[in-house]
Amino acid sequence: MMNFDLEERLEQRSEQRLFRQRVILDSPQKPEAMVDGRPCLMFCSNDYLGLANHPEIRSAFQQAANVYGIGSGASALINGHSRPHRQLEEELAEFTGRARVLLFSTGYMANLGVISALLSPGDALFQDRLNHASLLDAGRLSGARFQRYLHLDMGNLERRLKKSKARRKLIATDGVFSMDGDRTPLAELVKLSRQYQAGLMVDDAHAFGCIGKGGRGSLKEGGFTTDDVPVMMATLGKAFGTAGAFVAGSETLIENLISVCPQLYLYHGDAASDCRSVASQPEGG
Ligand SMILES: Cc1ncc(COP(=O)(O)O)c(C=O)c1O
Repeated sequence: MMNFDLEERLEQRSEQRLFRQRVILDSPQKPEAMVDGRPCLMFCSNDYLGLANHPEIRSAFQQAANVYGIGSGASALINGHSRPHRQLEEELAEFTGRARVLLFSTGYMANLGVISALLSPGDALFQDRLNHASLLDAGRLSGARFQRYLHLDMGNLERRLKKSKARRKLIATDGVFSMDGDRTPLAELVKLSRQYQAGLMVDDAHAFGCIGKGGRGSLKEGGFTTDDVPVMMATLGKAFGTAGAFVAGSETLIENLISVCPQLYLYHGDAASDCRSVASQPEGG
């Protein structure tokens, strides 16, 4: 039997106060929840709009389950890409004002997929130091030379961009940062990306559904088009109250992702039909 020092590792985690335990939730996501059998006020959920337990969304889920069943049976690239998934992609494209959208089963997978599809060893990736872990992992997986600029510090980013000799450069940032809720300076990022011929990707997981007209996110709020920010990513597991994620951009970006992302070999959940009812609200909504 191999020795992985599991006991010792747990002791160390415990001594360093890094031992983790999961609490058990006995109620739906809502402000007053039952946690480990005790009533608690919830301040840690990302269900920003209270949609995770909304009656209309629940009922859309039930109806979709009656028509399509529960499991997708196979990945999107085999036969798991159903009509409601396609409709959701089309409605999200219209909602975000971008030519095409591609669904992923999680935001983590979307970030791994898009960054490793765009970059290879020899390319350069510039990330805000406080980006979400999935963007950092995506950078590692891509094999690109990967640098973290100081949080929100455009001077620090510019110095790094100036020094880089890489042929392909990508700047990736959270739109709204998950820990403190502060926001990236989008206009400055767009300017730098143009000046240094770098691509720009915004992970709008925490803005989507909350910020901009009808919750269309920080890019729509600031009037940034696909030309300004070619890659937008957002999740459906936060304000949209369900699960899954998407990348939005040009036709050619999405066709490239479909052709190369191994993450599309993962199964989709059945989040499609319920999200459609949220995304189909009119522009003024
Ligand atoms: C900024 C950001 N990006 C990506 C993700 C990953 O999304 P998912 O939970 O759908 O994998 C999260 C989730 O916490 C996030 O906060």
